[in-house]
Formats: sequence, C-alpha cells, structure tokens
Amino acid sequence: DWRPAEVIDQAVAQIRAEVGEGRALIALSGGVDSAVAGALAARAIGDRLTAVLIDHGLMRADEVDEIRSVFADQIDLHIVDASEQFFAALAGVTDPEAKRKIIGREFIRAFEATEQALGPREVLIQGTVYPDVIESGGGQARTIKSHHNVGGLPEDMRFRVVEPLRWLFKDEVRRIGTALGLPDRLVWRHPFPGPGLAVRIIGEVTREKVAIVRAADAIVRQEIDRAGLNRQVWQAFAVLLDIRAVGVMGDQRTYGYPLVVRAVESLDGMTADWVRLPPEVLDAIANRVVGEVPAVNRVVYDITSKPPGTIEWE
Ligand code: XMP
Repeated sequence: DWRPAEVIDQAVAQIRAEVGEGRALIALSGGVDSAVAGALAARAIGDRLTAVLIDHGLMRADEVDEIRSVFADQIDLHIVDASEQFFAALAGVTDPEAKRKIIGREFIRAFEATEQALGPREVLIQGTVYPDVIESGGGQARTIKSHHNVGGLPEDMRFRVVEPLRWLFKDEVRRIGTALGLPDRLVWRHPFPGPGLAVRIIGEVTREKVAIVRAADAIVRQEIDRAGLNRQVWQAFAVLLDIRAVGVMGDQRTYGYPLVVRAVESLDGMTADWVRLPPEVLDAIANRVVGEVPAVNRVVYDITSKPPGTIEWE
C-alpha cells in the first residue's frame, strides 16, 4: 500500500539532509515532474531554494505563463528567455541526436550563466523520474535517445545532484503533486520532452516552424480535452513534417506541410498503444488545424504503437 504522505515525508527529509545548511537550485521545465520536485523542495528548504526556468523557445502554448502563475509567489523564480541562443545553435541541424545533444549543451550553458548571476548553490534538484533513468541507458546496454536531463550534465559540474523522484513512475508523481496542492491542470498535463517542440519538428528547427507546431499542438490537446479524454490519453501532440503536399482550398491550389497527430495510451512511457480516437474527434482536429494553421494543408494520424515506434518522432 503506497501512501503519498509517506513518500512526501521521505523526500522532504532526503532533500533537507542533502542540502544541509546550503542553498539549492531547481530547473523547472514546465512539466509535471520538475513542478512536483520543485514543490517538494520548497516544502523542504523554503527560501533557500531558487528556481530557474530556461525558456528555450520550444515550450508548448501557455506553458511558461502557467508555471509563473503557479510558482511566482511561492518560490524565488527566475524565468530566462534563452530562445535566441537555442535557435542560433540549432540553425541548419537536422539529425535527431545532434539536435538533442545541442539542446542539452545549450541548456547547461544557459543554466550556468544564470547560476553565476545568482551566486553559488551547492545542490541541484532535478525532477528525473524512473523511466528517464532507464531510457537513457541507466538500466540497459544501449541508448535509444539521449534524454537531456540524464547523463548530459558536464563532468566538471560542481553541484551535488538530488533527484527526489528518481524511483517513481508518472502516476505516482501525479498523486504526490495532487497531495502537495498543485492544480489539476498542471498535474494532469501530458508529459513533454525536455528538448521540447524541437523533437516534434522533423528537420531544421526554425521559429516559424515552432509557431506552426505549437498552434497545432494546442488544437490537438484542446479537442482531446473537450472530448473528455485528457486523462485516458498519456500524450497527444502534433509533429510537423519537412515535406510538402498539394491540396485545394476554395478554388486555390495549396502546397503546404502535412501534420502528424499522435495520441498514445501508456502507464509509464516505456511501452505505448496508439489511441483509437473517435472519428469525430479526429475530424474536429483535422478541420481546425487546416482551418486555423495556414501553413498546414493535410492531417494524418499515427497508428504505430511502442514498440516498434517510439512515442516521439525523434
Ligand atoms: P520515447 O519517444 O522515447 O519517449 O518513446 C518516451 C517518453 O519520454 C519522453 N521523452 C523525454 N522526456 N527528456 C524528457 O524529459 C527527453 O529528452 C525526452 N525524450 C522523450 C516522451 O515525451 C515520452 O513521454
């Protein structure tokens, strides 16, 4: 029998012991894992915690504002707009692992720059959860994808790293988040990869393409939510392809991007089944995306489970 209150007490004690009399830094990502780790750390060490959100310009719609509204009056929160730096580093890069490694590297750079401005911190708190550890090769011989927050940290880093969620699965993290009083819209947000929308844009990442996939992603999630399927679906999102297709609108020929819609059910992200979404939900998504996102003229639905597909396309 698993009780959130006990896990919270243990995690709070662990954070207090590790931080001692020192100060700690947490990187918030916009997602549920780092938000729960942040709320635990705030409970453990109060104003000796500083939170930093590196906005790489690759977040979902409203994500940064939501974190600000939940945490701004609870934690010493610094939101850093590092988007210029990330877009410059990603220019011209198309290989998926290269994109992931660049994002990991720029993330650390932005983070270290912030840290210099804030003064020394002895401990870095991270919202790493158990599946991150496994997928990055912690429990198996081969790396499938390089997760930005595991194994990507520089060797000379001076922080001690504390990972209070390291042995937990997402459903357990959510129960803890609710017990800590975080709002449902944050706790039940679908998981989102650290490299953000960059791994949902096939090929080169540009500001223009981020705007397209962000708008489409918001529509996909709104329609799933409207159909009451948000909690049943583990993740639903849009992927922008770098090919173009011919279409017709009014009596005009169009030549635009196809957009892939992906929705999966899963317990922990390690395996997943594609969701048999009702046709009317797919229809609403397709109509809205083509109507509201001008660059997209075609919508396709991904019916691949994991394995053999991964959840993200890159
Ligand atoms: P894949 O695509 O490997 O994804 O089937 C499994 C789960 O992990 C998420 N994911 C990531 N999460 N950093 C993260 O924090 C990452 O680099 C990363 N890559 C994938 C993905 O969204 C899915 O939930």
